[in-house]
Amino acid sequence: MNCEFVIFEKDANVGILTINRPKALNALNIQLMEEIDATLDLVAADENVRALIITGAGKGFIAGADIATMKPMNYEKGKAYGVQGSALFRKIELMDIPIIAAVNGYALGGGNELMLSCDIVIASEKAKFGQPEIGLGVTPGFGGTQRLPRIVGVRIAKELIYSGRIFGAIEAEKIGLVNKVVPSEELMDTAKAMAQNFAKMAPIAMKYAKKAINEGIQTDIENAVKIENEYFGKCFSTKDQEEGMGAFLEKRKVLFKNQ
Ligand code: CAA
Repeated sequence: MNCEFVIFEKDANVGILTINRPKALNALNIQLMEEIDATLDLVAADENVRALIITGAGKGFIAGADIATMKPMNYEKGKAYGVQGSALFRKIELMDIPIIAAVNGYALGGGNELMLSCDIVIASEKAKFGQPEIGLGVTPGFGGTQRLPRIVGVRIAKELIYSGRIFGAIEAEKIGLVNKVVPSEELMDTAKAMAQNFAKMAPIAMKYAKKAINEGIQTDIENAVKIENEYFGKCFSTKDQEEGMGAFLEKRKVLFKNQ
């Protein structure tokens, strides 16, 4: 697919997906969401991509869903737009590889929601976050009412969603919305170093660890532990488990083959 608003590059085993619609601060219109979707399909089909970074071009990460696109919508169109965005963000969440959001600037509304569906968030000191939808007359629509409380807790999520206020990276780190805040010039190097480290790990165990966390967090502890038992057991059907443990015991460098 020829993308107008998405740039995809590879740096060794790390994929870098850059949202590139800087004139609108990377606001998510339908075409842009389709291009992200198609790029994720390419990433999923490429077994050499072992970790993915999502970032934004210019001064925005993503300033939300596209307000000009949404303004004329009725109930059916608004709901369908929400379904499209939610399906895309669920697809991000369900990708087998770890995904790092490198938040360079505004992550508002749908931008904050996209980030919530990633595994890890590294933020520049200049990043700004928020769910301002209520001030536009709508609720968050791409998963914000669901993932934000799961990540930062119900009380903080309610205050942020009810006020719609925009806040900075230090507060985002304090409430557990982001993993780490770095100077803006160090953002991509920090994200790449972390992604390269993830990319060296056993890919099947990485996939199972991600699934165990994501599936287990949605259920009670009895079932959650059973989910972990299952994925842990499945690791012992992989060659990479033999290799990882063999390399340790033989005191040699490990070489995972994704098998
Ligand atoms: N949709 C469409 N266009 C947007 C946009 C958005 N979400 N955010 C910014 N833009 C456009 C602006 O209209 C402007 O375009 P023009 O140059 O053609 O006028 C351009 O991007 C630059 O923006 P500003 O001039 O406003 O830049 P600024 O630095 O003065 O302000 C900002 C930056 C505070 C982020 C401001 O742009 C802003 O408040 N944007 C809207 C943020 C927002 O409300 N996001 C939530 C959207 S709703 C949503 O996401 C629903 C959902 O959950 C699915």
